[in-house]
Amino acid sequence: MKKDIRNKKDIEKLVDTFFEKVKTDVVIGYLFNDVAQVNWDNLLPKMYDFWENILFHNGNYDGNPMYIHQELHRKSALKQQHFNHWLVLFTTTIDDLFSGTKAEEIKERAANIANALMIKTLT
Ligand code: HEM
Repeated sequence: MKKDIRNKKDIEKLVDTFFEKVKTDVVIGYLFNDVAQVNWDNLLPKMYDFWENILFHNGNYDGNPMYIHQELHRKSALKQQHFNHWLVLFTTTIDDLFSGTKAEEIKERAANIANALMIKTLT
C-alpha cells in the first residue's frame, strides 16, 4: 500500500526521483543538461521549496518560474510535446511512489501550472 505525500522528506524523494529520470530523458534532458546547464545542487532545493509551498503552504520559494521558462524558451524553443512529456514523467513518478489526496492534488497542480507555462511561453 503506497502512502500519501506527508512532509518535506516525501517531497524531496519525489523531486529527486523525478529529476533522476529527467537527467537522462531523451525528450527533455538536453534542455536541462545542455541548454540551461543546470547546477543540480542549486536547482533541487528550489524545487523542494516550490512544491512544499504548493502542497503545504510553508516553503521558502520566491522564484519566478514564468520568467525562467521564457528565458529557456529564448535559448532553445520549448514545444507542446516538451510540456506534455514533462507532465507524463512527473505524473508517473508520483503514481510510482505515492497514493492519496496530496498525491492527487500535486498532479492536478502540476497539470495546471504546465498549462499556464505553456500558454505564456508558446504565445
Ligand atoms: C517543457 C517542460 C519543462 C522544461 C523543459 C523545464 C525546464 C526547466 C529548467 C531547465 C529549469 C532550470 C533553469 C535554470 O536553472 O536556468 C527549470 C526550473 C524550474 N522549473 Fe521547469 N521545466 C518545464 C516545466 C515545468 C513545469 C510544468 C513546472 C511546474 C509545474 C516547472 C517548474 C520549475 C521551477 C519551480 C523551476 C525553478 C525556478 C527557479 O529557479 O526559481 N517546470 N525548468
